[in-house]
Amino acid sequence: MLDELARIGRDPATNGYVRDAWSAADLELREWFRGEAARRGLDVHEDRNGNLWAWWGDPSRRAGVVTGSHLDSVRQGGAFDGPLGVVSAFAALDVLKNRDFVPGRPLGIACFSDEEGARFGVPCMGSRLLTGVLDPERALGLTDDEGDTLADVMAGAGRKPQAIGRDDETLAMVATFVELHVEQGRGLVELGAPVGVASAIWPHGRWRFDFRGEANHAGTTRLVDRDDPMLPFARMVLAARETATTHGVVATVGKVRVSPNNANAVPGSVSAWLDVRGAREEDVRAVVGELARGVEVSEESWTPVVDFDAALRDRVAAVAGHAPVLPTGAGHDAGILASAGVPSAMVFVRNPTGVSHSPQEHAEPEDCEAGVVALANVLEDLCR
Ligand code: GLV
Ligand code: MN
Ligand code: MN
Repeated sequence: MLDELARIGRDPATNGYVRDAWSAADLELREWFRGEAARRGLDVHEDRNGNLWAWWGDPSRRAGVVTGSHLDSVRQGGAFDGPLGVVSAFAALDVLKNRDFVPGRPLGIACFSDEEGARFGVPCMGSRLLTGVLDPERALGLTDDEGDTLADVMAGAGRKPQAIGRDDETLAMVATFVELHVEQGRGLVELGAPVGVASAIWPHGRWRFDFRGEANHAGTTRLVDRDDPMLPFARMVLAARETATTHGVVATVGKVRVSPNNANAVPGSVSAWLDVRGAREEDVRAVVGELARGVEVSEESWTPVVDFDAALRDRVAAVAGHAPVLPTGAGHDAGILASAGVPSAMVFVRNPTGVSHSPQEHAEPEDCEAGVVALANVLEDLCR
């Protein structure tokens, strides 16, 4: 299945993936999901927020156990972040069918919409809308780099933008959610384990800093006469590293927009996106607070700490072969569902280099198979 997905949205120049929400690649990935579900006789349903659900059994009568992840990608991302969880969900279901297991409750496979927020800036858009933590009006007005709104883009993909928002009917079908994901660090390498289980997700957020100045000629404008927004921007990037070090968190400026973006002109404005994460919310907030002095800052997303349900975490870890338990600095739909009160857990698969959000992201086939077997065992236990 991963081989089938490998060609979709791949940039041949880099081997990185570009799978923005609602792009042609995303629509093709959604069709692939429908095809895999149909081949297995599952009923597929797309909810009002663009999330896909494939069901073995009828969840309208009794809430089910759901597994899955997402198929969209960061720009120039790897092949595993998202797809490994969806592929492993289908593969685990195949394992259960080969075992002649008959689930005692409905079993679902989910593919969440726009997990990365690569296009509109807000991550986990599908699960945030589903659970009501993202205001639908705000979401519809978010724009991509072309200035198209989510409303335009969803309508262009034949969806009903006016229907997005909290969806209790769909949520009521989910008794438990288990997301399998490639690990995005080297925790499992250090522990010498192919599979692990999440304890927590660090609190994290994204902030847009807008530095404004005056565009002018690069050759004829004296230095003293310039109002150059690139300078406070550069100071902010260096200060982010320093304050993050002081507070023991991580801070990243990975996206910048310079206007008008001429090599021979002082820029008129610079927008920069700051991502800050750490074990303690107060440290994350302190870093943003220090950097935000005297600048126009808007919070584009915020995700509080997620401590996964301890009983479920321990049960999953035991059934997954006494897997080690570890926290992560990466955000996931499982975290959004957990915060909304859905008992949720995560299974991680070892990543030999720890590199992620990059074409270098990798997991060995044997570890992926260990992940599938662990997930199948977990689903069997939870669906008994
Ligand atoms: C999602 O992968 C995130 O942690 O940003
Ligand atoms: Mn990711
Ligand atoms: Mn992911």
